[in-house]
Amino acid sequence: MQVLNTKNEVINLIDKFKKEQKTIGFVPTMGALHEGHLSLVEEAKKNCDVTVVSIFVNPTQFNDPEDLKRYPRTLENDVELLHSLDCDIVFAPSVQEIYPEPDTRKFNFGYLESVMEGAKRPGHFNGVGQVVSRLFDIVRPDKAFFGMKDFQQIAIIKEMVRQLHYDIEIVPCPIVREESGLARSSRNTLLDEEHRKNAAHIYATLKKAHYLVPETGVEQLKQWITDEINDNPFLEVEYVEIVDSETLKVVKDWNEPGKKVICVAVYAGKIRLIDNIVL
Ligand code: PAF
Repeated sequence: MQVLNTKNEVINLIDKFKKEQKTIGFVPTMGALHEGHLSLVEEAKKNCDVTVVSIFVNPTQFNDPEDLKRYPRTLENDVELLHSLDCDIVFAPSVQEIYPEPDTRKFNFGYLESVMEGAKRPGHFNGVGQVVSRLFDIVRPDKAFFGMKDFQQIAIIKEMVRQLHYDIEIVPCPIVREESGLARSSRNTLLDEEHRKNAAHIYATLKKAHYLVPETGVEQLKQWITDEINDNPFLEVEYVEIVDSETLKVVKDWNEPGKKVICVAVYAGKIRLIDNIVL
């Protein structure tokens, strides 16, 4: 496994692999790797000849400076984990390497960025677009792997791929959960024991909600989920939304065609967690 810090090193190595007709699988991450990330790496390894993982805490996607400051950074451990999975390339650049000058590009993701995370975290998806497009330009993957916990992010990245004409397949991968049901997230390490235990109530509620469809109306169900989660003194709902899984259009009636997904953002103390369940 090669651990590289500069764009040029990655570009040269990828050039070599491309000349050898090797397919490139890419897993972009912000590090603090957990089993969710590792499942993406395994999927990339199964589907591609060469697996590249980037580790870069991207400042442009944080709308809250405190969140950026406390984001966990565990590079040494991450590299060890990736080594044990036999990953081929780890790209761990500095901020200066990715943004030698500020990125002033403004993406227009239209409706997709107007709901849920887009509405609650202004500028977040613009930052995701900036960094993922820069990483795609360096790594030039055939396939890129993303976890479905960030459901809206996948829709945004697919739209960016369409707008910028990248020939890259975006592969969504299932959420990996802790034994308690809590969706794996780098932010879970920031939870104290009590909040971590109680955060399992989020997915338990989503599972119960699934059984209440379609007998319970859409609005009623959103209210039920909100009340059920807020009943737990360690948790506070930021939003509950039920959207079409492709268009992210807010569902008004269960009879509407298409797959639906319930998405939530919940504060466990100061830590903001997101989760979803596809119906
Ligand atoms: O999902 C993430 O960890 C980040 O948003 C990503 C895709 C690595 C971009 O910084």
